[in-house]
Amino acid sequence: MRTLPQLFENNRQWSARINLSDPGFFQRLVRQQTPDFLWIGCSDSRVPANQIVGLLPGELFVHRNVANLVIHSDMNCLSVIQYAVDVLKIRHIIVCGHYGCGGIRAAMESRPHGLIDNWLGHIRDIYHKRQDELMSIADQELRINRLCELNVEEQVKNVANTSIVQDAWRKGQTLIVHGWIYGISDGLLKDLGFSVSSAYDLKGLKK
Ligand code: CO
Repeated sequence: MRTLPQLFENNRQWSARINLSDPGFFQRLVRQQTPDFLWIGCSDSRVPANQIVGLLPGELFVHRNVANLVIHSDMNCLSVIQYAVDVLKIRHIIVCGHYGCGGIRAAMESRPHGLIDNWLGHIRDIYHKRQDELMSIADQELRINRLCELNVEEQVKNVANTSIVQDAWRKGQTLIVHGWIYGISDGLLKDLGFSVSSAYDLKGLKK
């Protein structure tokens, strides 16, 4: 197990490495951040946003929670989206789920998990909405992975339906919402193919 002093040592080495390869790097970041992307992903430690897509500090605006949910009343997530869209003028919002998500798995179990069951209830709603398809998948792991994908699709719709994104589109701002999924077993990202770039696109996604 790693110890806390090790983390500080790692940090000093990381900072020194960057300073060596790009002496002005941190000073530039002090002045401003101009990320082009907002990443909404799972809190899972195996899905580190910047590393997966090879982006440096300053290049990716990030929000993570259990099972990458975008809930219409979640002020935390909504505030992140608003800042990203209105202030940073981000052009791409990426909702990224991952296969084998523990939150999705827990939502499909009938046993209680404590407080988090209130959060996971949003995933159970999706399960019930899409249960015809899900019940037709006999293999439990495959069913979990399919729900991981369906969850991304629902969260893309939720992002696109926020007043923030709707207003941005009304004002003619370029903004595309993407649904991606990450494979923990191979380290690869997949575009699930239901990007939305306008209220018109969103209509096509509605079920
Ligand atoms: Co997860």
